[in-house]
Amino acid sequence: MTRANTPNLENYWMPFTANRQFKARPRLLAAAEGVFYRDVDGNRILDGTSGLWCVNAGHGRREISRAVEQQLNTLDFAPSFQMGHPVAFEFAEKLAEIAPGEGDSKLKHVFYTGSGSESVDTALKIAIAYQRAIGQGTRTRVIGRERGYHGVGFGGISVGGLVNNRRVFPQIPSDHLRHTHNLARNAFTKGGLPEHGAELADDLERLVGLHGAETIAAVIVEPVAGSTGVLLPPEGYLERLKTIAEKHGILVVFDEVISGFGRLGAPFAADYFGVTPDMITTAKGLTNGVVPMGAVFTNSRIHDALMQGPEDQIELFHGYTYSGHPVACAAGLATLSIYLKEGLLTRAAELASHWETAVHSLKDRTNVIDIRTIGLVAGIELGSRGSAVGARAYDVFVDCFKRGLLIRVTGEIIALSPPLTIEKGQIDDLILILADALDRVD
Ligand SMILES: Cc1ncc(COP(=O)(O)O)c(C=O)c1O
Repeated sequence: MTRANTPNLENYWMPFTANRQFKARPRLLAAAEGVFYRDVDGNRILDGTSGLWCVNAGHGRREISRAVEQQLNTLDFAPSFQMGHPVAFEFAEKLAEIAPGEGDSKLKHVFYTGSGSESVDTALKIAIAYQRAIGQGTRTRVIGRERGYHGVGFGGISVGGLVNNRRVFPQIPSDHLRHTHNLARNAFTKGGLPEHGAELADDLERLVGLHGAETIAAVIVEPVAGSTGVLLPPEGYLERLKTIAEKHGILVVFDEVISGFGRLGAPFAADYFGVTPDMITTAKGLTNGVVPMGAVFTNSRIHDALMQGPEDQIELFHGYTYSGHPVACAAGLATLSIYLKEGLLTRAAELASHWETAVHSLKDRTNVIDIRTIGLVAGIELGSRGSAVGARAYDVFVDCFKRGLLIRVTGEIIALSPPLTIEKGQIDDLILILADALDRVD
């Protein structure tokens, strides 16, 4: 079968896309290798976003495609309700080895899902089920944070804090901490976390005062908010949040869909910040993005509380047809083996200082009002053209793509997160293209 490089664009309703604008001037990718894409016209495009924060080990990894092919030819699908297959157990065991936490706090139990959104909704349901299992059945409210992104399930949008994802849809009982973004006090922070804002974690006390701790099951935050435009936690914030939550019997969930698997320079953000939550949600880098998959990691306290009751009863009425899909597990095992063999779970720490210097060199470009970096992530915030919020960053995005660089923009913020395999010279190339685009766009 041959595929046209100019397909009919009518039938595919694209996600999170201005469909009509896109279809008038499409950007179509056709191939990928290493840290580069090729578009349908054969142009090489540096992947400044690991696809969509997914491809941490770089594109076209033959170890993964071989493992996938072998798995497809051996056991293509297996049901996971009252049935199992060895690959799912093997992958969970390997994941538990790298999971954050020590002793009782180790997040060693793995519940598979099909995506980040499913991981978030799964974690929220586990939290509510856990509270009920320990006699706290009134705890059904979940707390998120303004500007948080936790996918698009009803649970995820309820705890999420991006208005466009929420305003049209009903939500489950929730409330929100204030976000921590503060340009007036923390702009252009370099060499560490933003100094100001740890006290914003006290918002959890405020919400406990407002709703009563006995109504709250869990609080979920992205340790580093990604999709909203790379917001770093203020120094001491996550520790403080954990302490307050513990005091009130509220579970802490870190949404590590983006920060997991080496993005910050440690296996997980929980390791990087030295704060172990009760659960983490993951996806994306779990399989290097090549097969859709997510996973929720929990500690034994949660897991064991739900393993009570008669042994012939299902403990958690939850799961997906594709939970523990054999092909996804095979892709995940091959991905994890690359991460470990090539030291990718900590490589961002080696590149962080070069990365920080390179990205901060954009500081004096017109319209740049903030730059923040951590590990191999960066957010570059632009001032808006009057009320047209997002228009300037979008123009930079289009300009970069034309000149061979894929970046991601959200509102007026450029987010960068290249594959963890990127070389220093390629980082410099990325910055050159971006700097030119910033100069060109008015
Ligand atoms: C922190 C976070 N949680 C959840 C999700 C949702 O993941 P998915 O798009 O795989 O459903 C994302 C996606 O970007 C994310 O960044």
